[in-house]
Amino acid sequence: MKQVARPLSVDELAGEVSSELVRDMFETLSEAGGVGLAAPQVGESVRLILAGSFPSGTNPTRPVIPVRLFVNPTVIQSSEETEGAWEGCLSIRNLLVRVIRPSVVRVEYLGADGGTATIEAEGFLARVLQHEIDHLDGILTLDRARSDEDIRWHEG
Ligand code: NI
Repeated sequence: MKQVARPLSVDELAGEVSSELVRDMFETLSEAGGVGLAAPQVGESVRLILAGSFPSGTNPTRPVIPVRLFVNPTVIQSSEETEGAWEGCLSIRNLLVRVIRPSVVRVEYLGADGGTATIEAEGFLARVLQHEIDHLDGILTLDRARSDEDIRWHEG
């Protein structure tokens, strides 16, 4: 059964428990060298994600967008145009899944200070945001594979 994470209240966000969780998430993500992480991946079923972008060995043209916190993120608008790309995930290591997603999304969220904000993201950041929001709804990349051809093993 897919577990859907619950939203955080502004009061909870200001509390010690969530600041510890956020610290833990930043630490886990930086140790893994990843660009995104969702709270359920560290065992907390709340709607917190980290997302950013930086170039990698295989994708040297990715923009540098510092990783930051998005609380209760929701996709409020998606482009009709879609793109397919291979996605890795810290929860299913050594698997790459080709996932088709809208190229541009508008996401509403609370910032670390509890204020409502929106971001329009495109390209790689749009993909990272959608991947992490999927985690909040218990959806993994494997669930989005359309056939075995969209799934590949990779080493290391
Ligand atoms: Ni993931």
